[in-house]
Amino acid sequence: MTHRNFLHIYDVSAHELGEILALAQTPIDQLGYPLRGAGVAMIFEKPSNRTRHSMEMAVVQLGGHPVYTRGEEVGFDVRESVEDITQVMAGYHSLLCARVFDHGVLLRMAAVSSIPVVNMLSDFAHPLQAVADVLTMQQSLGDLSGKTVSYVGDFNNVARSLCEASAMLGMHIRLGCPEGYDAHDNELLGFTELGAASIEQYRDVSIAVQGAHAVHTDTWTSMGQESESAEREAIFGGYQITDAMMSLADPKAIFMHCLPAHRGQEVADSVIDGPQSMIYPQAHNRMHAARGVLAFLMGVSA
Ligand code: CP
Ligand code: NVA
Repeated sequence: MTHRNFLHIYDVSAHELGEILALAQTPIDQLGYPLRGAGVAMIFEKPSNRTRHSMEMAVVQLGGHPVYTRGEEVGFDVRESVEDITQVMAGYHSLLCARVFDHGVLLRMAAVSSIPVVNMLSDFAHPLQAVADVLTMQQSLGDLSGKTVSYVGDFNNVARSLCEASAMLGMHIRLGCPEGYDAHDNELLGFTELGAASIEQYRDVSIAVQGAHAVHTDTWTSMGQESESAEREAIFGGYQITDAMMSLADPKAIFMHCLPAHRGQEVADSVIDGPQSMIYPQAHNRMHAARGVLAFLMGVSA
């Protein structure tokens, strides 16, 4: 039987992303418990709060049983090959989900897996986060077509997936990233091809946030980059979302952050803990988004 993977947002079409968002908002008892009696493997090479809990609960809500496994237990290419791990687990489970340091590991899993492979964050992409992000923006802002999303900081896994999802929904995208930590021209072109109303990248945060309906940021130092944190703090010093920056966005703009946050670095306390902040609804939407994605992969239609 053919199956779909969810390693990147662009693994689904714009229409299918809409379907996933609809499934995320469908009452649980109308989804038909597509994982009833089924196992879902969840391998984590890195720590997690939101992804582990939201995914485990989404599996339970769909009738399945999540099996959490730490990366070192299976030991990708240490204890046995990625390919052997994948093909063994595919015989026990209906879905294979992994959080990995190297995106290439997910690609290798997908190449040999007979069941869907789900990216729970890699160094390259965080598509489950992006589904929750656009769901949260839709709930706050309504139809996202023609609305403006700004992302400020490191153009990382979270930023890349957010841009892909926002592009598919027809948003204007404004990036504020320092040189060397920004999106390459071919990626900017890719967002246009996915449907972005426009895509602009600036070095100056105060320009990047102008008129934004949603202002996003993320940590300056992602998991796996800890040795670069001092260097990054120096480079990203001017990239904090402050009240002054939020005042340049749309007056009703929302502030978003995938979390974990570093108050006083990428965002001021007064912004993340202020009235425009959507961080907790955004985090809670991770569970609804996960349920929508998993139901979609199990063949449920909205
Ligand atoms: N946003 C996110 O993925 O959080 P965790 O690392 O806690 O899962
Ligand atoms: N960019 C961050 C996101 C954490 C959820 C990281 O990869 O560590």
